[in-house]
Amino acid sequence: MNKYTPAKPAGARSVDEITGSRRLRRMRKADWSRRLVQENRLSVDDLIWPIFIIDGENRKEPVPAMPGVFRMSVDLAVREAERAARLGIPALATFPNVDMDLRDQTGSHVLDPDNIINRATRAIKAAVPEIGIITDVALDPFTSHGHDGILRDGIIVNDETVEQVAAAAVLQAAAGSDIIAPSDMMDGRIGAIRDALDDNGFQDVAIMSYATKFASAFYGPYREAIGTQGLLKGDKKTYYIDHANSDEAVREAEQDLAEGADMLMVKPGLPYLDIIHRLKEEFRVPTFAYQVSGEYSMIKAAGANGWIDGEKAMLESLLAFKRAGCDGILTYFAPEVAEMLRG
Ligand code: PBG
Repeated sequence: MNKYTPAKPAGARSVDEITGSRRLRRMRKADWSRRLVQENRLSVDDLIWPIFIIDGENRKEPVPAMPGVFRMSVDLAVREAERAARLGIPALATFPNVDMDLRDQTGSHVLDPDNIINRATRAIKAAVPEIGIITDVALDPFTSHGHDGILRDGIIVNDETVEQVAAAAVLQAAAGSDIIAPSDMMDGRIGAIRDALDDNGFQDVAIMSYATKFASAFYGPYREAIGTQGLLKGDKKTYYIDHANSDEAVREAEQDLAEGADMLMVKPGLPYLDIIHRLKEEFRVPTFAYQVSGEYSMIKAAGANGWIDGEKAMLESLLAFKRAGCDGILTYFAPEVAEMLRG
């Protein structure tokens, strides 16, 4: 006998005695039995696809930090919306990369009914009316400093920002947006947007609140995509939630629901599964996660290097959101995963 083999102690229990004959591996023994007892599933119906829009025609630029992701002019975004609809993806979320000369201190171009976000909404709705359009109503793509609010004397001013965001939401709804998604975390924005939408006859337009948006390092590649990376001075800690906090996230979500949010979103996604789970348990409302740019890029980069199996990691990460309690996921993987799920 190998001298390193530990001796079985006298009177040691057998495995059956230890487990009481319960053996959880029984149902894992074959593919058919694993499928039979699978508790959560990912479907195309869970996907929201965030896309980046630029001005011009027939323009498509890769986002270097997000392999496989492009900024597209409106005409090409319409083609992609058609593809998404064919794949069965329920909704798109649009984000603009606005020309630098249209950005200013207050993000005033957000109030142009013909800015590229509103033009994209109109064009996509005209060509593909069956797909849902979710528009982000924050100011950061429109400000010269990359912040989500109006900046005065080094301070992001809350109430003035809320007024502007609510007015922008009405223009987005008028362009055909189905869901307004404010991502700026100003206090009172949900109630103000709800009032503004209702006053203008848009009772049917829903609000997906970026209720718990955390100050996070995982937004880096997105900032490259919309061109705020070089602009942003300082950080967003005076308006996004400290990522050390969980009770505060619950209070934010509670407040947004009281103000009229129809759905909640947690952002970023995978590092915040505990928050998703807590909100779903607490409120039982439609709950979404945003698997943000940095999460996407990490999986892509590790996959490209052969350090992980990128496709499997993608599917595993998306299923984790379902297990945590999500009703759906905003993910840059949407078209890729939709093709896989269909194939
Ligand atoms: C800001 C906004 C952010 C994202 C979407 N809208 C965060 C930020 O730039 O601070 C991040 C999306 C992503 O990382 O994929 N309103």
